[in-house]
Amino acid sequence: MLLSAAIVAFATAARVHALWPLPRSLSEGTTALRLAPAFHITLAPSVHGAPADLYEAILRTETQLWTDDLGRLVIGRGAGDVSAFEAAAHLSELTLELDAGSTVLSITEEAQKPIEQRNEAYTLSVPSNGSAATITASSTLGLFRGLTTFGQLWYEYEGTVYAVNTPVEIEDSPAYPYRGLLLDTARNYFAVSDILHTIDAASMVKINEFHWHVVDSQSFPLEVPGYTELAAYGAYSPQMVYTPSDVETIISYAGARGIDVLVEIDTPGHTAAFADAHPDFVACNQARPWADFAAEPPAGQLRLANDTVKEYVAGLFSAIAEMFPSSMVSTGGDEVNTNCYDQDPETQALLNATGLTLESVYDDFTAATHGALVAAGKTPAVWEEMVLDWNLTSLSNETIVLVWISSDDVKAVADKGFRVIHAASNYFYLDCGAGGWVGDYPAGNSWCDPFKTWQYSYTFDPLANLTADQYSLILGGQHNLWTEQSSPSNLDPIVWPRAASSAEVFWSGAGGNVTSALPRLHDVSFRMQQRGIHTIPLQPYWCAIRPDECDLNW
Ligand SMILES: *[C@@H]1O[C@H](CO)[C@@H](O)[C@H](O)[C@H]1NC(C)=O
Ligand SMILES: *[C@@H]1O[C@H](CO)[C@@H](O)[C@H](O)[C@H]1NC(C)=O
Ligand SMILES: *[C@@H]1O[C@H](CO)[C@@H](O)[C@H](O)[C@H]1NC(C)=O
Ligand SMILES: *[C@@H]1O[C@H](CO)[C@@H](O)[C@H](O)[C@H]1NC(C)=O
Ligand SMILES: *[C@@H]1O[C@H](CO)[C@@H](O)[C@H](O)[C@H]1NC(C)=O
Ligand SMILES: *[C@@H]1O[C@H](CO)[C@@H](O)[C@H](O)[C@H]1NC(C)=O
Ligand SMILES: *[C@@H]1O[C@H](CO)[C@@H](O)[C@H](O)[C@H]1NC(C)=O
Repeated sequence: MLLSAAIVAFATAARVHALWPLPRSLSEGTTALRLAPAFHITLAPSVHGAPADLYEAILRTETQLWTDDLGRLVIGRGAGDVSAFEAAAHLSELTLELDAGSTVLSITEEAQKPIEQRNEAYTLSVPSNGSAATITASSTLGLFRGLTTFGQLWYEYEGTVYAVNTPVEIEDSPAYPYRGLLLDTARNYFAVSDILHTIDAASMVKINEFHWHVVDSQSFPLEVPGYTELAAYGAYSPQMVYTPSDVETIISYAGARGIDVLVEIDTPGHTAAFADAHPDFVACNQARPWADFAAEPPAGQLRLANDTVKEYVAGLFSAIAEMFPSSMVSTGGDEVNTNCYDQDPETQALLNATGLTLESVYDDFTAATHGALVAAGKTPAVWEEMVLDWNLTSLSNETIVLVWISSDDVKAVADKGFRVIHAASNYFYLDCGAGGWVGDYPAGNSWCDPFKTWQYSYTFDPLANLTADQYSLILGGQHNLWTEQSSPSNLDPIVWPRAASSAEVFWSGAGGNVTSALPRLHDVSFRMQQRGIHTIPLQPYWCAIRPDECDLNW
C-alpha cells in the first residue's frame, strides 16, 4: 500500500503541471533546481540598446519569482520536495539573447505589428547543474514570451524557490498569431485599473490582443479628440469615461506585456448612445417596444443613409485611428435591425428620394468608414453579419471577420475568402448560462445557454469543417466578456481561469488533452491568485492538490 502510494507520488512529481499554454516542443527532466538568492536576468551583447519595456519585464519577472510564493499543487504543497531541492544546484543566471541579425525594437512595437508580422517564437533552456539558463529569440516579444514561460517553472516552499523538472528544453511559437480577449466596457463601466489588472492576467497566458468593445447603445465612455461630445453626453457619468490619457495608459501597459489593443466602435447598430449628443443622427432612438427595433434596449441605429452622419462617423474613425496604434480597428457591424430603418421616416425619405436600397447605402457607409481607416493605414475588422447577411461590395478582402453567432458560420466566411477570428458564442462567450437579465421575464435564460466550461472551449478545433486551402485564413480566436451582468465586482471570477482555455487552444493548437490540461490549469489559476487575480476554483481544493484523482474514471 505505502509502496504503491510512493510510486504514484513520484510519477506525479515527475510530470510538469505548470506550463500554460503548453509549449509546442518540450523536454524536461526530473531533477530539482533552486533559485540562487543572487539570481538575476542578464542581457547578452546581442540585445544592444535594449528597450525600457524589456528592462521592466525583466524586473517584474525577477520580482515575481520571489513573490509568487506558489506552493506546488500536491499534498503537503511542497513539503515532500525538501529532500530533492536541498540537494539541488542553485541557478544564479538567466541570459536573454537575440539571434544574430535581429533588430532590437521594444516589446510594445513588436506586439503592435500587423499580426502576420509578429514574431513570438523563443527557445528556453534550463540546465539542472546550475549553469546559466538561456532564452533565445529573434524579437524582444519572443524574449518576453520566454520570460513568461520561465516564470511558470518555479514553486516556493518555506522560503526556497525551486523547480522540479530540470533540465528543461523548450522550443516554442504560437500556432495562431491572434489570441484575444474581448471586454465590453459599455454595458457596465470598468475603471482603468480593472482593465490593467485584466491585461496582467491575460499576459500570463500569452494572450496578445485586447479586443476593447468600448462603446455601445447603453453608454459611450470614450473621449475621442474632436468628438468629445459623444462621451460628454453619452457616458454614464463624467467619471465613467476613458480620457485620451487613460487610453494611452492602457495601450502602453498592454504593449509592454505583449498585447495589442483592437478597439471596436460598433456601427451602424448599437449606437443609441450617439443620440445623447446628436439626436438627429440616430434612427429609432429609444423606440418601443425595444425588441422590435434592437437586440437590446435602448434601440437606436445611425442614420446611415444621411451623408452628414456618414461623414461624421468616417471622421470619428479617422480620429480613432490616431488614438490607437494597432494595425486593426473594428467597425462592428453586428445585429443591424432592418425594421428600425423601415420605420424611420428620415431614412425612408432619403431612400425614396435617391432610389437607393438600404443595402447600397450601407455599402456607401461602409466604404466611407473603412475608407477612413484604410487611409490611416489600418485594417478594418467586422462582425460576421457584414459578410454573411449583407452584400457589401465595399468590404475589401483584407477585412478581418470575427465570427460570433456560431462556429457553424466560420465555413461560410472562409468560403467568401475572408480571414477569420474565432469568437463564437457557442464556445467562447463567458457570459452564457447566468440566466436572463431583461426585467419582467422570470423564466428567462441567457440566449446562449448553457454556461461554457473551460473544458468545452478547450475541445474547440479552429480548423473544423474547413478545407486545407482555407486553413491560412484562420488568424486565431478569443474569449468574449459581454458585461450586461458583469462589472468590476465579478470580472475576475467570470473570466479566469476560463479565458486561459482559448489562450492555449490558439497558442498550442487543437487537440489538447483535457485530462492532462486540468492540473496545469489549476496551476495557472493558483498562480493568478498569488498575483491578486480572483480566479474561481475549478474543483474542490482536495482535487487541486491531487492531480487526476477527481477524474471520472480514476
Ligand atoms: C551544465 O549542463 C549544461 C547543459 O546541460 C552543460 O552545457 C554545462 O557544461 C554543464 N556545466 C557544468 C559546470 O557542468
Ligand atoms: C442629414 O442629417 C443632418 C444632421 O441631422 C441634417 O441636418 C440633414 O438635413 C440630413 N440630410 C437629409 C438629406 O436628410
Ligand atoms: C417611400 O416610398 C414608398 C413607396 O413608394 C411609400 O410607401 C412611402 O410612403 C415613402 N416614404 C417616404 C417617407 O417618403
Ligand atoms: C448578393 O449578391 C449576389 C450576387 O449579386 C446575389 O446572388 C445574392 O442574392 C445577393 N444576396 C443578398 C442577400 O442580397
Ligand atoms: C486580397 O486580394 C489581393 C489581390 O488579389 C491579394 O494580393 C491579397 O493577398 C488578398 N488578401 C487576402 C488577405 O486574401
Ligand atoms: C462542423 O460542422 C458540423 C456539421 O455542420 C457542426 O455540427 C459542427 O458544430 C461544426 N464544427 C464547429 C467547430 O463548428
Ligand atoms: C490524456 O491524458 C491522460 C492523462 O495524462 C492520459 O491518461 C490519456 O491517455 C491522454 N489521452 C489521450 C487521448 O492522449
